[in-house]
Amino acid sequence: MTDGRSGFGGWTTDATDPAHTIDMLASGSCPPDTMFDRFLEEPLRRLSPQHWTPLAVVARAADWLDGFNVRTVVDIGSGAGKFCVAAALASRCHFTGFEHRASLVASARALARTFGVGDRTYFIHGALGQVPLPTADAYYLYNPFEENVMDPTERIDDAVVLDRQRMLRDLGLLQALLSRAAAGTYVLVYNGFGGSLPASYQRVRVDRGLPHELSLWRKATSRIAVGSRRVGGPADAPSAA
Ligand SMILES: C[S@@+](CC[C@H](N)C(=O)[O-])C[C@H]1O[C@@H](n2cnc3c(N)ncnc32)[C@H](O)[C@@H]1O
Repeated sequence: MTDGRSGFGGWTTDATDPAHTIDMLASGSCPPDTMFDRFLEEPLRRLSPQHWTPLAVVARAADWLDGFNVRTVVDIGSGAGKFCVAAALASRCHFTGFEHRASLVASARALARTFGVGDRTYFIHGALGQVPLPTADAYYLYNPFEENVMDPTERIDDAVVLDRQRMLRDLGLLQALLSRAAAGTYVLVYNGFGGSLPASYQRVRVDRGLPHELSLWRKATSRIAVGSRRVGGPADAPSAA
């Protein structure tokens, strides 16, 4: 095609106009990931299948979050902003992305403007342990720490220091945060996070029909179990418990 239009599922869209993608997500249907990802600049578009949440997962998550009347969500490790922006379109929630790569924070803000959700998405540049995480009704985790132990050729870039020691420290910080969180706090986990949720969290939803498992957990009002609950993730990843 030479006119800037491309086909998706039997109909054509203007490659510079996000309107169709917005309409589909807002009406509860799930566009192909390529339809959303074309609004990411390279190399972020190329990284999407491995590092950013698929839209089918966003759609399921949005349904659960609205169903449980969640109002505020923090994406811990928000990357290029795909989850926050797409989920803002697909739900009624407000999203805060927390990300340690400054370039990704800038890209996420631009993506939110492109999709017209700048009023319900906010992006913080910071690393766990250095910048405080905002309090939220729910926290989203899509394998934020696995990059620490990935082959360097699979990493997003080399802008941040990554290693196993850092992964263990970040897992500890995350567990401490979730242990301190108020009763009723939700944690949404896609493809694990390499550690365990405190035992006070109970699973309230799970979907195993997606590329990886998606689960939603809620912190109980009183402690009902001892220990911690491992949630998905690489089989050989250490537990921070
Ligand atoms: C697998 S990506 C998920 C991105 C996003 N949540 C999504 O689904 O589209 C994980 C992200 O977490 C970020 N990250 C990893 N460790 C972090 C830390 N300690 N503090 C802030 N961001 C972190 C990485 O830079 C990366 O962008």
